[in-house]
Amino acid sequence: MGSAVRGISRPPVASDSLSAKTLLADSLKARTQSLHREAEQSGVIAGILRGTASRDSYVLFLRNLHPVYMALERALEAASARGRLFGLAQPAVYRTASLAQDLSNLWGATWQSALPVLPAAERYVRCIEGAALGDAARLYGHAYTRYLGDLNGGQVLRRLLARRFDFAPDCLNFYDFPEIDSLERFRITYRNAIDQAPLPPAGFRAAVEEGALAFALNIALSRAIDALEDAGQPAYDG
Ligand code: HEM
Repeated sequence: MGSAVRGISRPPVASDSLSAKTLLADSLKARTQSLHREAEQSGVIAGILRGTASRDSYVLFLRNLHPVYMALERALEAASARGRLFGLAQPAVYRTASLAQDLSNLWGATWQSALPVLPAAERYVRCIEGAALGDAARLYGHAYTRYLGDLNGGQVLRRLLARRFDFAPDCLNFYDFPEIDSLERFRITYRNAIDQAPLPPAGFRAAVEEGALAFALNIALSRAIDALEDAGQPAYDG
């Protein structure tokens, strides 16, 4: 499964933990199913699926995902260093660096100063930072939403973007996982790591609700990008 994948050792499961009965990833999936449909059918994501999104709005979308992933990966590393979140802090699935590569190739070296971070992305970052506090249980909801999303629907987006904008491979690093041999196997392993979360009932419920919040934050960001486009405002003053 590639050298960069950290071992996922089975942690002791708390006897009174709900996870023994209902697995966390399945609960997250059930709780976010309708939000997943809404995410596909709204904002710049829907625009990409329909082939109506502009290159500018796609670039601005990536620009605003960058601080989100930076916050998430920083939080996962910090929690993992504290002996929490077994198996979730996986550099092989991290996106911050690949986003920076795509933004440099799509926009140029000045993307960080030239492209704005929208309030919807700042709100998302603050939520992740809040979720990292205490037992960091809520980070399970954020990791599930972004990384399982990237490992699933992200591959659909890659094909559409390559065709729609004729992007060269070096503009699609966000969808590539060079350190992962089998995306399918990794998807299962990562989902198992979420299912093995040694969370007490309150932490389990908080993680599920945070997953729903993470979807809502993604939808709000996707819509904010689209609203700029609809308002005919340039995504950025290039
Ligand atoms: C371009 C639009 C999208 C498409 C075509 C798409 C497609 C898919 C597909 C086919 C699956 C596998 C479903 C299954 O195994 O039952 C999936 C899973 C998932 N998607 Fe999406 N998706 C899209 C957008 C999103 C967005 C925007 C998010 C969140 C920000 C997201 C988060 C997820 C998650 C978390 C899963 C894993 C479900 C699980 O295994 O529990 N997806 N997606």
